[in-house]
Amino acid sequence: HKLHPLLAALPKCEHHMHVEGSLSPELLFELAARNGVTLPVAEDDSFASTEALYARYARFTSLDDFLHYYYIGMSVLQTAADFETLAMEYFKKAHAANVRHAEIFFDPQVHLARGISLADVVRGLRAASLRATAELGGMTSLLIPCLLRHLPVADSGELVSQLREGYWAGGDEQKQEETVVNALEAAFEGDKDAVSLRGALAGLGLCSSERDLPPTLWREVYQEARRHSVSSAEKPTLARRGATRLTAHAGEEGPAEYITLALDHLGAQRIDHGVAAATDPAVMERLAREQILLTVCPISNVCLRVTKSVKEVPIRTFLDANVPFSINSDDPAYFGGYIQENYCAVQEAHDLSVDDWATIVRNSIRLSWCDDARKQVVL
Ligand code: HPA
Ligand code: ZN
Repeated sequence: HKLHPLLAALPKCEHHMHVEGSLSPELLFELAARNGVTLPVAEDDSFASTEALYARYARFTSLDDFLHYYYIGMSVLQTAADFETLAMEYFKKAHAANVRHAEIFFDPQVHLARGISLADVVRGLRAASLRATAELGGMTSLLIPCLLRHLPVADSGELVSQLREGYWAGGDEQKQEETVVNALEAAFEGDKDAVSLRGALAGLGLCSSERDLPPTLWREVYQEARRHSVSSAEKPTLARRGATRLTAHAGEEGPAEYITLALDHLGAQRIDHGVAAATDPAVMERLAREQILLTVCPISNVCLRVTKSVKEVPIRTFLDANVPFSINSDDPAYFGGYIQENYCAVQEAHDLSVDDWATIVRNSIRLSWCDDARKQVVL
């Protein structure tokens, strides 16, 4: 398409990418061999080879069908170095597509259940994030842990306690000072890792299976996270250090009503996917009025049969209604497309104008969760 060179050159922000979903079959088998992880070959010969796995990925029938493979895949991630390798591979691909700022999700509960500490996961991801800034043209990133809807809500509550204790920057300043002092003391005694993880995580998300799991179930858990968060208007310095930002997947397989529930009951400041909004004029009107960003993932929607084609993703409807959205890859290694392919697929299907793209890029920068100074540079 004649606009593709322009699309490649656009400065991009990615807001919806699960780092475990960037695990390629090649890296999956490499890490399985290195870490001695047995894949369920007997149960499903999709894990017999990279080719077989790619072929299976091309036939997902639903979100849950995909999630089954996604959770098995991530079992090969064992050490901080594995997470660093994984994230670094993503950052390099994103940089090649002119991504200047990325907000990436990960699923702590799965790793905790496998006996891997949150500190190891975050240490690895954080190392990659810092390396990306140093080695990939100053690219910035934020790390956002997601709660998993298919697990008991109490499990989410325990994770949020851990996040408040040691990973989010915001919250009670007194307690924060104490934590810093404790961390410095620990560093003095040789435990250097204790210093670096407070502030490493920027917010909270909610993902996994959606059907019959309304956001209201996580109301109290999000309330705990909100109690910890600071608004940038009130405390700009703390915000710069990484206030807790709240988002949630809603309106992917679930109804538009779940978007409203995520906004009202969770205090979500952004909605991941949210394509079901197009079915409800009142929800559309609200998203436009409150300028709530939808992090839309067109190729994912087709792969998981949320829509029949990229044409059916309501891009034009959102543009016409002034509902802000960004275009993202979700789980690029599983859906066969990184951010660039998603931009191009939207262009092929919707034949947007240069002005439309200017709107999309401006909104994705403006509604990023980096600070304003960074937004100036990204532009
Ligand atoms: N939806 C819900 N959960 C997920 C997704 C998704 O698209 N990707 C990874 N976890
Ligand atoms: Zn997602």
